[in-house]
Amino acid sequence: MNTVIKNLLMRSLVRLSRRPKVKVSLERLEGLVVDIGAGGEGIMAKTCGKETVCVDISKREIDEARSRGAVANWVLCDARAMPFGSGLFDVATFFFSLMYMKTLERKHAVMIEAKRVLKPEGSLYLWDAIIREKPDPYIVFVEASLPGEERVYTGYGVRGEKKEQAPELINQLALEAGFRDARTESHEYWFTSRFQ
Ligand SMILES: C[S@@+](CC[C@H](N)C(=O)[O-])C[C@H]1O[C@@H](n2cnc3c(N)ncnc32)[C@H](O)[C@@H]1O
Repeated sequence: MNTVIKNLLMRSLVRLSRRPKVKVSLERLEGLVVDIGAGGEGIMAKTCGKETVCVDISKREIDEARSRGAVANWVLCDARAMPFGSGLFDVATFFFSLMYMKTLERKHAVMIEAKRVLKPEGSLYLWDAIIREKPDPYIVFVEASLPGEERVYTGYGVRGEKKEQAPELINQLALEAGFRDARTESHEYWFTSRFQ
């Protein structure tokens, strides 16, 4: 679907829907960025630029992001075992992607892998939904303001069991993976955290 029409439709849906809504403002992050679970919209590629390394396990999601103008270095792989050496990146990001990595084991494994590919002083940034058991599917609508005025309207949803997540749980997993200095901002339906 034409991106302009899709954006108009999503914007109306975001405004009219009674589902949880998220408004997030993004700024370009400095250094070499690896965005994990990057497909769909490719928001971090659009935010941080074409040098961004974007990892996704699904070719379909990568193709979708590319077709929506997300220019980046796309890598098709499982984020639990990324084909990069250790200590390569300045920044790792998860933008509404941990919610798709259901189960504690999976989230834990991708956090450990994110820590491995980051430089020792590298930072992890994440934005994600606070998910309760109900309703099912759990859908959040997101309005993302990107650097340079562009806005993206989209929706992210997951269904089934073991999808619950909250900032406390994610922060605990990050600390267990070796991150420190959690700085978390919690909202009603979503949260953002930064770790070193
Ligand atoms: C819907 S996207 C999240 C939004 C995305 N960051 C964006 O900018 O629109 C979640 C992505 O995580 C990917 N994913 C799920 N499990 C993964 C894994 N183990 N490794 C890599 N990507 C994974 C999915 O294929 C999906 O494309």
